[in-house]
Amino acid sequence: MTYKILILPGDGIGPEIVAEAGKAIEALRADFGLAVEIEEAAIGGAAYEGAGHPLPESTLRLARAADAVLLGAVGGPRWEGLARDLRPERGLLGLRAALGLFANLRPALLYPQLAEASTLRREVVAGLDLMIVRELTGGIYFGAPRGVREEDGVRSAFNTMGYTEPEIERIGRVAFETARRRGHRVCSVDKANVLEVSELWREVMTGLAGEYPDVTLTHLYVDNAAMQLVRAPTQFDVIVTGNLFGDILSDQAAMLTGSIGMLPSASLDAHGKGMYEPIHGSAPDIAGRGVANPLATILSVAMLLRHSLGEPEAAVRVERAVSRVLDQGLRTPDIEAPGTRRVGTREMGEAVVAALRAG
Ligand code: IPM
Ligand code: MG
Repeated sequence: MTYKILILPGDGIGPEIVAEAGKAIEALRADFGLAVEIEEAAIGGAAYEGAGHPLPESTLRLARAADAVLLGAVGGPRWEGLARDLRPERGLLGLRAALGLFANLRPALLYPQLAEASTLRREVVAGLDLMIVRELTGGIYFGAPRGVREEDGVRSAFNTMGYTEPEIERIGRVAFETARRRGHRVCSVDKANVLEVSELWREVMTGLAGEYPDVTLTHLYVDNAAMQLVRAPTQFDVIVTGNLFGDILSDQAAMLTGSIGMLPSASLDAHGKGMYEPIHGSAPDIAGRGVANPLATILSVAMLLRHSLGEPEAAVRVERAVSRVLDQGLRTPDIEAPGTRRVGTREMGEAVVAALRAG
């Protein structure tokens, strides 16, 4: 069987970084017999320019037909003034919703080679390896009613944060299963001291824990979790939380590693299909200059191989190749340190391919 991968370059540095990830996929195909077929389509601002919509019907059709989607990044100042429904971010949110990608896995892993890149003291972040499991298709991002209204000359705006029990249960299961393959600990993050939705969240998570006696469940309020993440981040194994809290905490966790250009992510449906993307954005300030770090996107390919293609050995190959180029001292500007060699996007991508081929 031949796997179908849809590549969505998107905006800003997106096209540059997915080009390097594409080379890694091609090397796996040519040298290691990975049976893949690659297609490409537009999303975000690029799709708006070409087709008048950030998520064209043709892109959605290809995404539905693919086994996995690899996305670069969307967005840029050029499209910020557009109506909400035409903004690049709607392309991403629309794809998450249309494909039912409810489980967002965002690892924060500190590469020992990059320990000096963190803004936190080395001893605080040493050994950091946590996974945020963020609910991605519910909560306040998608809750109804939402809108803006005006009454007696006073404008107000409102959103709704809601979760159903089945929504909480299915993301909880992903977290517990993930913890089983890691450190057997889940920390559920909520705001149960204030919000009803969090009370239900906590109740469902607690109920689920009975089915996973080998996993230890703890709970934190989101404000405390934010504090603990910078105070003692290595206490965490798996963090599970809702859409909005997960959005915030995952950026914070990423920065602990000091190298947001290194972190991949997976957004999964209930059947193993997924969309994979670096967690950094489109970085319009450095777009087109050939200096963006392609490693997060290449590591997203590793997650894709593991979670959607069932090719864990190929995934390890990619991760080893990335580690190898870091050992060789190659660094894009975002992770540069004294005594290392500065390289651009293409040179970094080609070094990973060479390391892949070397086995
Ligand atoms: C993310 C991003 C998105 C989100 C934006 C671009 C809509 O911040 O993937 O974390 O808020 O989910
Ligand atoms: Mg975010």
